[in-house]
Amino acid sequence: MEFNQIKIEAEKEISPIIGQKDLENWRVKYLGRKSELSLFFNSFKNLPFLLRKKQGNKANQTRQFLLSLYQQKKTDLEKNQPDFEFFDLTRPGEKIKKGHLHPLTLVLREITHSFEKIGFEIVEGPEIETEYYNFDALRISENHPARDMWDTFWLKPKTNPPAGEKKFPLLLQTHTSPMQIRYMEKHQPPFRIIVPGKCFRFEATDNHHEFQFHQVEGLMVGENINLANFKFIIREVIEDIFKHQVELRFRPSYFPFVTPGLEVDIKIKSRSTRARLAQRSWAAKANNEWLEIMGAGMVHPQLFKNVGYEANRWQGFAFGLGVERIAMIKYGIDDIRLFFGSDIRFLEQF
Ligand code: PHE
Repeated sequence: MEFNQIKIEAEKEISPIIGQKDLENWRVKYLGRKSELSLFFNSFKNLPFLLRKKQGNKANQTRQFLLSLYQQKKTDLEKNQPDFEFFDLTRPGEKIKKGHLHPLTLVLREITHSFEKIGFEIVEGPEIETEYYNFDALRISENHPARDMWDTFWLKPKTNPPAGEKKFPLLLQTHTSPMQIRYMEKHQPPFRIIVPGKCFRFEATDNHHEFQFHQVEGLMVGENINLANFKFIIREVIEDIFKHQVELRFRPSYFPFVTPGLEVDIKIKSRSTRARLAQRSWAAKANNEWLEIMGAGMVHPQLFKNVGYEANRWQGFAFGLGVERIAMIKYGIDDIRLFFGSDIRFLEQF
C-alpha cells in the first residue's frame, strides 16, 4: 500500500479547494467508507502479523495526516467565507425589542411641554440642599412647627471638612421649593419658571407614599401677578394634560412660604374615562373623590426680602405639583411603589 503516494496526492488536491462541496468530495475520496484507506483497514485483519504491525502504523499516521489536512482546510474555509453566503433572505427577521420610556418620564415631558407652550422656562436645581434653602429662606425656621411637615433625610456631616469649608448640615431636598430662592437670588422679575425635580422624605411607604417622588415647582413673578392668573394657568395646563376630562377645585391651605396658601384637587369628570378606569382602586377613588395634586399660593413677601427684591413692588404665585399623582390618575396606577420597582412587566405597558 502506497501511503506516501496517498498523502502526496491528497495534499495536492486539497490545496486549491475553495468551496465546502469540493472539500466534502475530497473527504469522501480520502477518508470516506470507500476510500483506499478505509478499504485497507477493512482488510487489515487478514494480513500476516509482521506486515500488520508495519503497515498499521503507517496507515494510522496517514489517517492522522489526512484528518489534520481536512480540519485545517475546513477552518480556513469557514474563516474566509463571506457572510453573505450564509445569509438567507427568506428567513423571517428577529423581532426587535424596543425600550420603553418610564411612565414618569412620559408624564414629566407632558407637564413641562404644557408649561413651555405658555412661556414657562424650565430650570433645574440640586437634589442635595442646605438647611437654608430647604427651610430657613422659605420661612420654615428651626423651631417652626411646620418643619414637621417634611421628614428629612439628613446627610452625615463631614468629620473633617477642608479648611475654609463651613460645616453646615446638608440634606436631600424635601420639596422643589428651595429653587424658588436660588432662582430669585440670581434673576430679576418678571419671569415664569418651572422646576422639575426629585424629592425625598423620610416616611414609611405604602401604596400612596414613597420616600422619593417628583415635583414640578412653578414660580411666576411680576408686578401684577395674582391668584386669578394662577387659577387660569393651572386650569389650562391640567386640562391640556387630562384632555379636559377632570374637574378642578381650589381649597385654602397653609404653607409658610406663601400667603394666602391653597391646595388644588382634581376629579375625573368624563363618564367614559371613569368607566375605563373603574377597576383600578386609585383611579376609582378619583372618580368620586377629590384628589390633591398640588400645594400653591402667593409668594410670601418675606421671600422677596430674603433674596433682596423690593418686596412691595413684586407679586407672584408659586406651586408644587405632584408628578406621581398625575401619572397615577392618568394611567390608572394604584400603587406608587410600582414607579421605582423596576418591574419590567409594569414598565412594558407604557
Ligand atoms: N413645597 C410644597 C410641598 O412640598 C408645595 C408648595 C409649593 C406649596 C409652592 C406652595 C407653593 O408640599
